[in-house]
Amino acid sequence: MSNDGVNKTRRRMLVGTSVVVGAVGGVGAAVPFVASWNPSARARAAGAPVKADISKLEPGQQMIVEWRGKPVWIVRRSAEALANLESLNDSLADPSSAKSKQPAYIPSTSARSLRDEVMVMVGICTHLGCSPTYRPEIAPADLGADWKGGFYCPCHGSTFDLSGRVYKSKPAPINLEIPPHFYESDLVIRIGEDGGNA
Ligand code: FES
Repeated sequence: MSNDGVNKTRRRMLVGTSVVVGAVGGVGAAVPFVASWNPSARARAAGAPVKADISKLEPGQQMIVEWRGKPVWIVRRSAEALANLESLNDSLADPSSAKSKQPAYIPSTSARSLRDEVMVMVGICTHLGCSPTYRPEIAPADLGADWKGGFYCPCHGSTFDLSGRVYKSKPAPINLEIPPHFYESDLVIRIGEDGGNA
């Protein structure tokens, strides 16, 4: 199978998993099931917006919803993770997201989000389209002592911080994409619409 075929297969597999988990605090931690709302298959195929209920998303957890056939990740960042973001800037290729694909109303700060603690991004590597793995641990052996949590792409090794910003000297050319979205209510995010913010 060609590389492209492998990537497509992998992406299909990951998109098919509509609910996902994030480790909290380390290997083996119990992770509660995080539910999400999805529209019908027909509506999804038409590119309809989707809602994500983040009421059960705890700090350190990730959930995934499908939008236009793509995985959209929602990560609730801890206060410690937020505090670390600024310190990573010198290690990143585009820390202020000047080249990123993201709506203009999303701040280009290190947090890259409407609410600091909640990050929303498209979970597809900007190199060749694999879906990176959530790696929230601090300084795991395989990612090094400086790792503060983020995402690792298993296809060619690109790494991203918890704002989806790519590290320097990696194959991925730009940060992870941020889809249009807004808070429909305090605990529900609507993905695929700007909510009049554009
Ligand atoms: S597809 Fe992610 S590094 Fe190549």
